[in-house]
Formats: sequence, structure tokens, C-alpha cells
Amino acid sequence: MGVDEVTKVNRDDGPKLPRSRGTGLDWNQKLAACGPTTVIEDGTRIFFPHNISVGDRVFIGHDTHLDGYHAGRIDIGDGAWIGSFCFLHGAGGLRIGRDVGVGPRVTILTSEHDLSGTLSVIHGPLRFAPVFIGDGADLGCGAIVLPGITVGAGAVVGAGAVVTRDVPDFAVVAGNPARIVRRRDGAEK
Ligand SMILES: CC(C)(COP(=O)(O)OP(=O)(O)OC[C@H]1O[C@@H](n2cnc3c(N)ncnc32)[C@H](O)[C@@H]1OP(=O)(O)O)[C@@H](O)C(=O)NCCC(=O)NCCS
Repeated sequence: MGVDEVTKVNRDDGPKLPRSRGTGLDWNQKLAACGPTTVIEDGTRIFFPHNISVGDRVFIGHDTHLDGYHAGRIDIGDGAWIGSFCFLHGAGGLRIGRDVGVGPRVTILTSEHDLSGTLSVIHGPLRFAPVFIGDGADLGCGAIVLPGITVGAGAVVGAGAVVTRDVPDFAVVAGNPARIVRRRDGAEK
């Protein structure tokens, strides 16, 4: 996803008063879709559930946040396994493919504040950028995926990695910033 595809959205001028988003615990019956054999464990918080689709045979571990938004969707493919305490952000759009593994405490972000100018950063405009996690990919414990990233099909992201660039299909990446350490398909790294 190139920078020119990042959508820029301006907020109203000036700071806004904080407003509660509720508990995120009353998502039952409100998801856009949810497969019949999917398991969503206790303590999972789901915001804007009508913008979130969860496939079948999905497991979502305890205390994960599906941080939906009034714009942008979260789509989780059939057979995905998502560990406990993850933070999955949907404002810019998030698509997790089929049979993807997401380790505990993974963070996926889909927006950031524009850093230009001298306003307090949190009062500056937000930029949204979707994240795609390809079918069969695996994200190690505690990995952080930044806005606009595509993790290719069958790729592996190491524990604790910070993913700042797209990851090719079947690449294994690790570290901060994440770099390719090998390829699962025998290709040159
Ligand atoms: C990234 C990973 C998949 C690599 O496994 P591997 O292909 O067997 O790679 P190796 O262990 O041979 O390591 C290759 C190199 O990457 C480094 N490396 C491996 N994992 C790393 C990590 N998480 N962060 C930083 N560097 C890492 C190794 O130190 C080694 O570096 P070197 O060549 O300079 O010695 C694995 O180490 C990992 O992090 N797995 C995630 C485990 C996890 O979170 N599971 C979740 C279960 S729900």
C-alpha cells in the first residue's frame, strides 16, 4: 500500500472533549457476521461490531480488543487463530486472511496522526491506511504491524518484531525494524 493511497481525514478544529466508547463487551448479536463454530473468549472487547465480520472456525483469545471504528472494517477469515490480549485496530481497514495465526499480545495499527506542523500531535489530522494479512501467515507474540502494511500469504513475523515494510509471501521476518531472515519457499532472501 503506497503513501498516496493513504487517506487523509481532517478533524474539526481544536481539541474535543473525551467521550466514553462504552465497554465493548456487549457485542453479542451485533457483529456484521460470525461463523457458527467460531469461539470468542470471555473479556474480548469489540467496538463498532456492525463493521466487523468474523469467519467460521475462528478462535479469539481472552481479552483481545477488536477496535472497530465508525469507518473502516475488520474482516477475519475462516480458520484464523487469534491469541489473548491482542489489539487489532480497524479504523483504516484490516483484513486478516484464512488460517492466519496471530500470537498473544500482537498489535495491528491502521491509523496514525499527521506529524507535520506544530499542533499537539493528538489534535492533528489522522491518516488512515489499511493492513492486509495474507492467508496462512503467522504473526509471533507481541509483534507490531504498522499502518499500511501488507504481510504476504504464508509469511512469518517473529516474536516482538516491528513491521515497517510490506512482507513478501513466504518470507520470515524478525527484529525492529523487521528484516527478512529467510524464506519458507526456498527463494533467495
Ligand atoms: C522469527 C522466527 C520464526 C525465526 O525462526 P527460524 O527461522 O527458526 O530462525 P532462527 O532461529 O534460525 O533465527 C534466524 C536469525 O533471526 C534471529 N531471530 C530469530 N527470531 C527472532 C526474533 N523474534 N527477533 C529478533 N531476531 C530473531 C536469530 O537470532 C537469528 O539471527 P542470526 O542469524 O544473526 O543468528 C522465530 O524465531 C520466532 O520469533 N517465532 C515466533 C514464535 C511465536 O511468537 N510463537 C507464537 C505462538 S502462539
